[in-house]
Amino acid sequence: TQRTLVLLKPDAVRRGLVGEIIRRIEAKGYTLAALDLRTATPELLAAHYAEHEGKPFYEPLVEFMLSGPVVAMVLEGERCIEGFRSVAGATDPTVAAPGTVRGDLGRDWGLKVQQNLVHGSDSLESAEREIGIWFPNL
Ligand code: GTP
Ligand code: MG
Repeated sequence: TQRTLVLLKPDAVRRGLVGEIIRRIEAKGYTLAALDLRTATPELLAAHYAEHEGKPFYEPLVEFMLSGPVVAMVLEGERCIEGFRSVAGATDPTVAAPGTVRGDLGRDWGLKVQQNLVHGSDSLESAEREIGIWFPNL
């Protein structure tokens, strides 16, 4: 079965939405293969967000991801990579569909698109790469 790397970003932890988001993940039928509350480091985020380095939102994104603890997890399940991204909804919470995490719970007060509650790997390759970054022993 497939694996994917999911992060509950600092806004999710700050707003007390960890339980609600994990509830949706479990309700969908995915298995938790790893789960850890941790504070990211600049090194970890540089590896995780390497594809975005140099983009205008990169620095504020890294700063935001360092602003508090995140919940890192590995999900297992049939087609869970695209499945979790559909649970998460579109990147911008303003236009994310109702029924999705970002559509139901996301806010963009101040147009801070980076505060969109969750991250999910977007391909098989990025899932294995990101799992290696966050859970090297898995
Ligand atoms: P992730 O699951 O978090 O990777 O989201 P995504 O795949 O929907 O978006 P993408 O990988 O393109 O961007 C990574 C993260 O950067 C997003 O989740 C946002 O937090 C942030 N981001 C992306 N685009 C923008 C933008 O235009 N402005 C701002 N401020 N942040 C952005
Ligand atoms: Mg992405």
